[in-house]
Amino acid sequence: MWTSILGQKNRPFLALSPMADMTDSPFCQIVRKIGGADVVFREMVSSEAIVRENVKTLGMTDFAAAERPIVQQIFGSDPATMARAAALIMEHAAPEGIDINMGCPVYKITSHFNGCALMKEPDRAAAIIRAVKHAVGPTPLSVKIRLGWSDPDEFKKFIPVIEAAGADLIAVHGRTKAQGYGGASDWRRIGEAKAVARVPVLANGDIHRPEQVAAALEATGADGVLIARGALGNPWFFWAVAHPGARISLGERASVVLEHSRLHMARYGERGLVTFRKHLAWYFKASRVGEDVPGLKQIRAELVRVSTYDGLAEILRPFSARPPQPDS
Ligand SMILES: Cc1cc2nc3c(=O)[nH]c(=O)nc-3n(C[C@H](O)[C@H](O)[C@H](O)COP(=O)(O)O)c2cc1C
Repeated sequence: MWTSILGQKNRPFLALSPMADMTDSPFCQIVRKIGGADVVFREMVSSEAIVRENVKTLGMTDFAAAERPIVQQIFGSDPATMARAAALIMEHAAPEGIDINMGCPVYKITSHFNGCALMKEPDRAAAIIRAVKHAVGPTPLSVKIRLGWSDPDEFKKFIPVIEAAGADLIAVHGRTKAQGYGGASDWRRIGEAKAVARVPVLANGDIHRPEQVAAALEATGADGVLIARGALGNPWFFWAVAHPGARISLGERASVVLEHSRLHMARYGERGLVTFRKHLAWYFKASRVGEDVPGLKQIRAELVRVSTYDGLAEILRPFSARPPQPDS
């Protein structure tokens, strides 16, 4: 059980948060290879598409053995469909956990009573959890929520409802749906959520640097953290929590980027390099590589146009050829 790792280690429990179009198999494989993450949450998939046996959606739940333990997130609004989808995913890929998305604020999702809209419909949310729980048996079932839809204290009533329905773990993003991504994640309220909850709680939101993990855990009292944007272009995040002050050399960055791009192309085909550009943009942000890298602006301009592996390797050659940096 992946949840049984919680609290057993004398270091923080670290999880990769689900991100649509980002936390796919290639990215999770890279995070795992670098190490430090206890579990990785894969991007959400539609329960409706899974039950229609949409090949592309079911394929999104494929994963490499090295990614385990892995949690597959699903979204939907109909209890029977969610239960059937969870059962199909268990049959297809047997992830270590299933997570239900009750936090997504995007209109396309919430307008169909999915994602964070479920926080306004506690009865429906509970029915979904009961149905999915029944379908997945002993597999841990987690639920990812926000503080509320518009009321930042909504979680106080919502958490007992979803626990009673069978949630084994709750991940809390410290914003309301109304906030979207504005304002700051309210770690104090995540602490209140932890105090209300009887099951383990993972804190999420605005833990963007490895050095912030300890502060987030202290502020919230949570059992672990769920890291989203801090890991984009930075799969070293989890490793870095245990290696304070370590810097990633440009050579190491280039080598991981090339390996990630190869996994991405193996998954999505030669054209995959075009969809890999979103990762390149994160890998080469100034905040990731450092402000002082000569020619970074030019390199970034080339990276947004790159379409072949050889082209990418060529752009990164000056980095790859660099001897390891003294502080790496
Ligand atoms: C590009 C992107 C895609 C996301 N997709 C999902 C998703 O599929 N499921 C989900 O529960 N949250 C999703 N989120 C929300 C994150 O998991 C996380 O809750 C949020 O970004 C706050 O954490 P952070 O400050 O560490 O980024 C997404 C966020 C981003 C930036």
